[in-house]
Amino acid sequence: MASARLASWVCLLVCILSVLKTNTQCVDVTNTILPHALEKGAVCLDGTPPAYALQEGIGEAANNWIIYLEGGGWCASEAECLFRTTKDVGSSNRWQKEQSCLIAMLSDQQNENPYFFNWTRVYVRYCDGSSYVGDREEPFIESNTTVYFRGARIFDAIMEDLSTRGLLNASQALLTGCSAGGLGALLQCDHFRSMLPQSAKVKCAADAGFFIDGTDIYGGHWHREYFAQIVQTHESYKNLPKSCTSKMNASLCMLPQYFVGDIMTPVFILNSVYDTWQIENILMPLNEEQLDVHDEFAPCGHDIENCTCDQVKHWRRFQSEFYQALTHLNSSSRNGAFINSCASHCQTQKQETWCENNNPISKLLISASQPLQGVGQAIGEWFINDSKFRKIDHRHKNPLVCEYNPEEPHWNNHYTFRGTNLIIPNYTMVDEVNRKLHLVPQCPAEIPAYLQESQYCLSDVC
Ligand SMILES: *[C@@H]1O[C@H](CO)[C@@H](O)[C@H](O)[C@H]1NC(C)=O
Ligand SMILES: *[C@@H]1O[C@H](CO)[C@@H](O)[C@H](O)[C@H]1NC(C)=O
Ligand SMILES: *[C@@H]1O[C@H](CO)[C@@H](O)[C@H](O)[C@H]1NC(C)=O
Ligand SMILES: *[C@@H]1O[C@H](CO)[C@@H](O)[C@H](O)[C@H]1NC(C)=O
Ligand SMILES: *[C@@H]1O[C@H](CO)[C@@H](O)[C@H](O)[C@H]1NC(C)=O
Ligand SMILES: *[C@@H]1O[C@H](CO)[C@@H](O)[C@H](O)[C@H]1NC(C)=O
Ligand SMILES: *[C@@H]1O[C@H](CO)[C@@H](O)[C@H](O)[C@H]1NC(C)=O
Ligand SMILES: *[C@@H]1O[C@H](CO)[C@@H](O)[C@H](O)[C@H]1NC(C)=O
Repeated sequence: MASARLASWVCLLVCILSVLKTNTQCVDVTNTILPHALEKGAVCLDGTPPAYALQEGIGEAANNWIIYLEGGGWCASEAECLFRTTKDVGSSNRWQKEQSCLIAMLSDQQNENPYFFNWTRVYVRYCDGSSYVGDREEPFIESNTTVYFRGARIFDAIMEDLSTRGLLNASQALLTGCSAGGLGALLQCDHFRSMLPQSAKVKCAADAGFFIDGTDIYGGHWHREYFAQIVQTHESYKNLPKSCTSKMNASLCMLPQYFVGDIMTPVFILNSVYDTWQIENILMPLNEEQLDVHDEFAPCGHDIENCTCDQVKHWRRFQSEFYQALTHLNSSSRNGAFINSCASHCQTQKQETWCENNNPISKLLISASQPLQGVGQAIGEWFINDSKFRKIDHRHKNPLVCEYNPEEPHWNNHYTFRGTNLIIPNYTMVDEVNRKLHLVPQCPAEIPAYLQESQYCLSDVC
């Protein structure tokens, strides 16, 4: 028993070292710009044509397609969208000169991406600010800048262009993406399916795209209002799932919990229950009128170790609302889910969270005895072998550090629960779990009832 445990610790250490040593390289791919899309008004916020990067697959596997929608937040008001026109998230100007870096889920290396490396892989650049569903005829004009709201047209123009490159001959296709792109993959899922031949196997997977309708620290629903504004500004309601807009106010229909159960195509939800974007923006959005409340909570929101027992309740409520939202995913169908506890956002885009063989995290998060090797394997088996994969980490009450590269610039770096840990020499996942167990305040009655209630389990593993 003791030696088996030691052996698995040694394995973890070896595995972690090999992650650190992996020198993952981008595949640099020239962007395809779609000048013809201009005629259809399928343009970025600043009026430039949309773009994607494609690397062809090998042999027969080239008929298998993975289409990855880039993310990058949203713009909710005309002014915010105007601001984006000078940025990469609102213009293709820079992509016309620069290449795209295909990595992790889009890697062409078998050891980095064992299930999809030889497929045709497409990285769709994000420049509409609406998760690929806006479609407003009237532009917004401010002095000499014209702003367009055409996300859905961009999606269609890109699919049309890919059709000429063989997409309509696909034998398998996975529509995916992260964050705003992950949400786009869910919103466009059935539409995408309808474009492809019936004989093709088609599925959709959202990474960090399951934005919940959660309660914020002020007791309100700032994020719900924010999404409502996006839907109005971009007139996205025209393209949101009809199954949802026919039942409720369309401004709610960008929130996955209100439409995910009605998606006909099989979907996979990959998300952390402590998704850093969601903690920052859904749980603790900056509220100018209640800065005192925000500032008082901030140390706890950025590092759960700094919470008082009273504040920990906000985290627990968020966690509870997240699991509740997930129950909307049809559990009887071919849908999959992998919900872990990493302090992260976009696990398909980084080798250390995507790659299977080297990464001990998921194994640790779910169960040491499970043969699961990671996020990539979960999605790969679910897509390719049609295996039922629904796992939620209910073992860890607190966010865990799951990324290993402190050198890599990333907006999550300001999270102290990531940054500080990683500069400790030889810091491992085992240290991380132990640290969380000991340092986070143990508050009375903090384990909510849902942890015992089986209806919150999507799987046999809870
Ligand atoms: C693509 O890779 C998979 C997984 O390794 C393999 O089974 C398949 O034969 C490959 N296809 C081609 C055409 O090389
Ligand atoms: C208008 O265009 C001029 C010249 O192209 C530019 O210098 C100026 O910044 C623009 N004004 C606004 C408000 O974008
Ligand atoms: C689709 O496949 C057919 C038959 O194999 C072929 O004739 C056609 O050129 C292909 N179309 C594209 C766009 O690749
Ligand atoms: C739908 O929600 C929006 C945003 O909350 C609100 O402005 C609008 O009045 C609602 N529409 C209806 C028909 O209730
Ligand atoms: C999802 O489940 C509901 C109720 O369980 C059912 O009515 C609906 O048809 C299901 N949707 C799909 C796409 O399977
Ligand atoms: C959490 O507490 C530690 C120790 O008091 C402090 O050094 C750190 O800055 C705090 N973190 C945040 C995000 O405030
Ligand atoms: C998934 O399918 C591949 C090829 O069909 C097979 O080699 C592999 O063993 C399968 N994996 C599982 C877990 O069944
Ligand atoms: C970290 O691990 C390496 C290899 O095991 C060892 O040589 C080194 O002394 C360790 N560093 C610290 C600070 O423990």
